[in-house]
Amino acid sequence: MKRSLGVCYYPEHWPEDIWPEDARRMKAAGLTWVRIGEFAWSRLEPEPGQCAFGWLDRAIETLGKAGLRVVLGTPTATPPRWMIDQFPDMLAVDAQGHPRKFGSRRHYCFSHRGYLEACRKIVTELATRYGRHPHVAAWQTDNEYGCHDTVLSYSDAARTAFRDWLAQKYQSAEALNRAWGNVFWSMDYRSLDEIDLPNLTVTEPNPAHVMDFRRFASDQVVAFNRAQVDILRRHTHAPIAHNYMGRITEFDHFKLGADLDISSWDSYPIGFLSDRLEASAEHKAAYLRQGDPDFQAFHHDLYRAVGRGRWWVMEQQPGPVNWAPFNPSPLPGMVRLWTWEAFAHGAEAVCYFRWRQAPFGQEQMHAGLLRPDSAPAPGLAEAAQVAQEAAQMPEAGCCAGDVAVIFDYESAWAWETQPQGADFNYFRLVFAWYRALRSLGLNIDILPPDTQDLSRWKLVLAPGLATVSPALMTAISDCPGTVLLGPRTNSKTVDFAIPEGLPPGLPGLDARIARVESLPPGVNVPLEGGGAFVHWAEEIEGTAPVLLGRCDGSAALVGDDRCAYLGGWPDDATLRTILQTLCAQREIEVFDLPEGVRKRDASGLRFWFNHRAQPVQWNGFEIPAAGVFWHGLD
Ligand code: GAL
Repeated sequence: MKRSLGVCYYPEHWPEDIWPEDARRMKAAGLTWVRIGEFAWSRLEPEPGQCAFGWLDRAIETLGKAGLRVVLGTPTATPPRWMIDQFPDMLAVDAQGHPRKFGSRRHYCFSHRGYLEACRKIVTELATRYGRHPHVAAWQTDNEYGCHDTVLSYSDAARTAFRDWLAQKYQSAEALNRAWGNVFWSMDYRSLDEIDLPNLTVTEPNPAHVMDFRRFASDQVVAFNRAQVDILRRHTHAPIAHNYMGRITEFDHFKLGADLDISSWDSYPIGFLSDRLEASAEHKAAYLRQGDPDFQAFHHDLYRAVGRGRWWVMEQQPGPVNWAPFNPSPLPGMVRLWTWEAFAHGAEAVCYFRWRQAPFGQEQMHAGLLRPDSAPAPGLAEAAQVAQEAAQMPEAGCCAGDVAVIFDYESAWAWETQPQGADFNYFRLVFAWYRALRSLGLNIDILPPDTQDLSRWKLVLAPGLATVSPALMTAISDCPGTVLLGPRTNSKTVDFAIPEGLPPGLPGLDARIARVESLPPGVNVPLEGGGAFVHWAEEIEGTAPVLLGRCDGSAALVGDDRCAYLGGWPDDATLRTILQTLCAQREIEVFDLPEGVRKRDASGLRFWFNHRAQPVQWNGFEIPAAGVFWHGLD
């Protein structure tokens, strides 16, 4: 399959007579895909039960006739105003007990049965009408589940559904009391119907209660999506995708992705750098117009795993966005770089958001490939350049990773439920490890926590994995390579208690965590050789060989070349050194890449990316600022 490009388009925003010219220009720019429809419910069903598909028929026809392939979105992220009259209690309720209002998007609670039924109806209408349409070549369900903090809802509908979920899991109040440890603070329940949602308590609720609520909330998203997929599958053979958002961990993407054919995500590198990344002011200044060099790559690798190999970028930033605290323009070259980086990580398609900048509505300050006056915006020429380059390239593909990192959504919930230190964050921890690997030029695979076979990788990392399942424990024992775990790995049972015998309980490793401490900013625990633990440090007991010590004489890293445990959160340089040492032991080739330069191998090709605002000399060649180049791999 050739790498292809596309764009997000809103025919309902524009007069019909400009659709043909828009379609012609998309095709002329080398685009293949056009995603439409995902917010159009009020125009598809202006009055309850009265559908108006004529305009969509004509839009699909126009786009298809121009040679474009349509990705049709289900419109369930934007229920129309009349829906709220039908179901006033369908709005999600925030943790303070306030319903979230109509007037933007994603204003629904995943547990509301009436709304779910309404979604089934509109999806059925669309699926029956367009399921076999020759121009509709893929589907997208909803839009960015979880964006705008929309997974957790404290509504009456959620409470009822949560009780059902608990009844299925525990069967009795006694079993639940035992599992949650409700003897503590007299929290025992006599019946499952007494259980409320874990908000508005006087002080913190029981973490086991919160964790089950988080699991329940994630399952509701999965079930909501599955209801749509089940309908679509009855009417279409086209692949079905969802577009995930960056750094959203509130639901288990692996579970949701198992129902889909393609995983896709929405990549806004400059918005993410300012909006959702812990980094120094210098780092943010250096990458202001480029985005972080690793943040996108992490998500590319994550969503490749979620899609079991098949993944896209459904929305790619083409210019300044509107939603971050500050919204600079990308450096010339970055739109091309971001696109090629996605392809190097195995993306089948990259679609830009959006075709033309809208002069109205919330996103009127968000760039498109065209300006509001339809003149080309700078992103268009870069997209067209990639289209030409991709046409000359071999088929899309990605190579197997040199190393693997396990990513687990439940661990994100665990450490939000019980951070123990205000800046302990699971995503941040895993991302620090990922970044260290990438700075060594490694190709990385991200794995779900239920991976049963680790034998393909010489090095597997599992930082902060709250609970290690029995199956993963077996895979760790059987892994012929090195598995590095910690900190906090396996420190909770499935019921969110401290395990008997103390963590980490790893096969063949006599090590127990006797005590942990969190460290405020500016405080660290020095390590032998010059580095330090920051944020978090653990006291390790036992006879496991010490691979790295703390300056106070206790152990920091223990184990052997099969299984090792790191009892803290190392500073970035120390982490890099530890990983470099493990790679050397396993004869994994590493590269000492200059700041801002990243590498990724795809099938038969090696790509080099310079995320810096200055050109870089590397290995005898020069990579231009915001530049990419590639060569064949022998
Ligand atoms: C995404 C969303 C799009 C648009 C875009 C703006 O999160 O899916 O609909 O809002 O952001 O950057």
